[in-house]
Amino acid sequence: THTTSSPTPQTVTVTGAAGNIGYALLFRIASGQMLGTDTPVRLRLLEIPSAVRAAEGVAMELADSAFPLLASVDVTDDPATAFEGTTHALLVGARPRTAGMERADLLHANGGIFGPQGRAINDHADEAVRVVVVGNPANTNALIASAHAPDVPAERFTALTRLDHNRAVSQLAARAGVGVTDVDGITIWGNHSATQFPDLTHARVRVAGDDGGAPAWRPALDVVDRGWAADEFIPRVAKRGAEIIEVRGSSSAASAASATIDHMRDWSLGTGVDAEGAPRRTSAAVVSDGSYGVPEGLISSFPVTSDGSGAWTIAPGLGPDESLLPGEGGRLAATVAELEAERDAVRGLGLL
Ligand code: NAD
Ligand code: LMR
Repeated sequence: THTTSSPTPQTVTVTGAAGNIGYALLFRIASGQMLGTDTPVRLRLLEIPSAVRAAEGVAMELADSAFPLLASVDVTDDPATAFEGTTHALLVGARPRTAGMERADLLHANGGIFGPQGRAINDHADEAVRVVVVGNPANTNALIASAHAPDVPAERFTALTRLDHNRAVSQLAARAGVGVTDVDGITIWGNHSATQFPDLTHARVRVAGDDGGAPAWRPALDVVDRGWAADEFIPRVAKRGAEIIEVRGSSSAASAASATIDHMRDWSLGTGVDAEGAPRRTSAAVVSDGSYGVPEGLISSFPVTSDGSGAWTIAPGLGPDESLLPGEGGRLAATVAELEAERDAVRGLGLL
């Protein structure tokens, strides 16, 4: 359960507000699902000039919903205006990858967006600002934004891997034949990309006890077979974004919005404790302090908790035991190597 939130109005800026994720996100924020049902919100919608009119249409629909908590909605194409006094910045708008576009092209196009937005956050946002980057490549876009905000502590810049985490929870629960509240302890490591490492080393599943006894928590890798974990679970979760694009015809939007709500709610209100009083954990991409051998300064996904006071805490002692899984191993090292390569690429482009 979450602690009760402060009734002080919060200023939430959503970039790419006229896009697909924005449309699924804004109404949930306005209804109180992100910051609590007693916290008024002021929404700021940032768009590029050609999409401002569409964002104004979304603002009209927000008005038409008569949300009791919605104090105001402003639409702008000016980052300085959009981030004035912002407490929660949701950086969704990005240059999508189009056919034939290489990752380097994408990094370059997005550097032109996240550098200026980071600078505007630095100069205009509330000093307690929390930033989550959703637009891809999310980890490296967050790194670029943070690098342009020298006055904002680096732990205030995060990237979304909660969608990957939620996907992993759902896949494990389905395989084990239990509900999603009967699995915990999953970690997504590394990059929000196909190299990510969805890790079951410390995951648990709550299964019915022997002889009809009370349900009991058991290590996930004792409940599901390890061949499945290595050969099906990991690639299924890691490539789920591409699978959604293929099946749905466009990239995940409502699930991405839902994960963004989860990320910001848990960060702002705290992850709390489970029924046994143990801290609940989730996954988020946060700046590395060198934990788990991830080079300091990279924005990488870790097992995290939040007490609601400001920064996520990287949970210690939960390193992956890759020897449990058949196959090559080195998955954590591989996804971290990709993050380093992206960092080096944007550095080479002069974006850091
Ligand atoms: P979309 O194309 O529907 O919407 C993006 C919006 O961003 C557009 O309205 C566009 O005008 C706007 N935009 C572009 N540049 C902008 C800028 N400089 N400032 C403000 N707005 C700008 O895309 P979508 O489906 O909403 O997805 C948005 C991003 O989220 C994409 O990069 C997508 O790859 C990414 N994504 C991330 C995750 C994740 O888990 N991290 C999951 C799904 C999608
Ligand atoms: C997702 O994980 O669904 C997206 O990041 C996929 C994408 O490339 O937009």
